[in-house]
Amino acid sequence: MEKRALKIGDKTARLPLIQGGMGVGVSLGRLAGTVAKEGGVGLISTAQIGFLEPDFDTNPIEANLRAMGKELKKARKIAGDGIVGFNIMVATKDYERYVRKAVEEGADIIVSGAGLPTELPSYAEGGETAIAPIVSTEKSAKVILKFWDRKYHRIPDLLVIEGPHAGGHLGFSNEQLVSYEEPGAYEEEVKKIICTVREFEEKYEKEIPVVLAGGISDKGKVREAFALGADAVQVATRFVTTEECDADIRYKETYIHAKKEDIIIVKSPVGMPGRAIKNAFMEKVMRGEKIPHGCHQCLKHCNPAEIPYCITDALIHAAKGEVSEALLFCGADAYKAERIETVREVIESLLGSA
Ligand SMILES: Cc1cc2nc3c(=O)[nH]c(=O)nc-3n(C[C@H](O)[C@H](O)[C@H](O)COP(=O)(O)O)c2cc1C
Repeated sequence: MEKRALKIGDKTARLPLIQGGMGVGVSLGRLAGTVAKEGGVGLISTAQIGFLEPDFDTNPIEANLRAMGKELKKARKIAGDGIVGFNIMVATKDYERYVRKAVEEGADIIVSGAGLPTELPSYAEGGETAIAPIVSTEKSAKVILKFWDRKYHRIPDLLVIEGPHAGGHLGFSNEQLVSYEEPGAYEEEVKKIICTVREFEEKYEKEIPVVLAGGISDKGKVREAFALGADAVQVATRFVTTEECDADIRYKETYIHAKKEDIIIVKSPVGMPGRAIKNAFMEKVMRGEKIPHGCHQCLKHCNPAEIPYCITDALIHAAKGEVSEALLFCGADAYKAERIETVREVIESLLGSA
């Protein structure tokens, strides 16, 4: 099947590649800008993006909104006319304000997962910013496509399918994670999602490029994604161990030192499963220890009085390189990293002659 170009508004990506958004502080302006400069789509994660702003502890939302403008400018300076956007998690408190800010700043695209972005079209209305949901199952694809069709009479500008080998929060139950380990099981799900997408393309006589994500770490996996019908791939983990990645070098080194058995499924404080590297911090949490914390207004469904640790604190420790106190989110193939590379080298290893 012909791959369709990754058209984002009036721009077209030179490469069939999106760099997945990574919070907190892993994909900021430098990483996203560099990927965009090289011809892919660079995504800045808005998750607690203002963590270095002086008023973050007292006014996190304002600090985050301000930092969004700064990081987008930084990315644009590097990227020239490359494509740069934001990854905004639906589960974020004040999600609507972040979406409106992204549109106001003129982001090329908003990619939104960690929940279904049912209201994204109305929040993004009036700007030129393209919008794309992240789905993990046929069921979630159907729900969002039907909802946008009925309520907004529109389709997404592209759709990201995030599979069970991705990093960060995962859109699956633990049971689904086990069942998709069966050979070919998730590939079947991807085919069903693509069939659903085709129905809506026909209805609207407009293409919806499909982008596959999760564990795509080498050329062979890129080829498999294209063979399944994906138009592009979204890659995150491979970009953590780059010179240009915005996280501290000590975070990057945890990927390089990790072994396959160190990569585990964890439960985030709000109950969602996620994938991370097992470290002293995670062992403490797994033993049932409670880590004292405040609240930084990050997730909608978090009750600070009930959680064992604060995910914002743990992810900020990661970004700052305080790795023994950190939640080290990573994809299933993180242990394959052997050295720090440049973004250009990573892209060449994924797409060179693909
Ligand atoms: C360190 C890390 C942080 C992430 N943070 C986010 C996030 O803030 N929002 C989101 O939607 N996805 C997040 N993800 C998921 C990625 O955007 C991406 O879709 C996924 O990890 C792709 O799989 P890969 O890492 O195996 O390439 C994160 C992934 C990693 C590895």
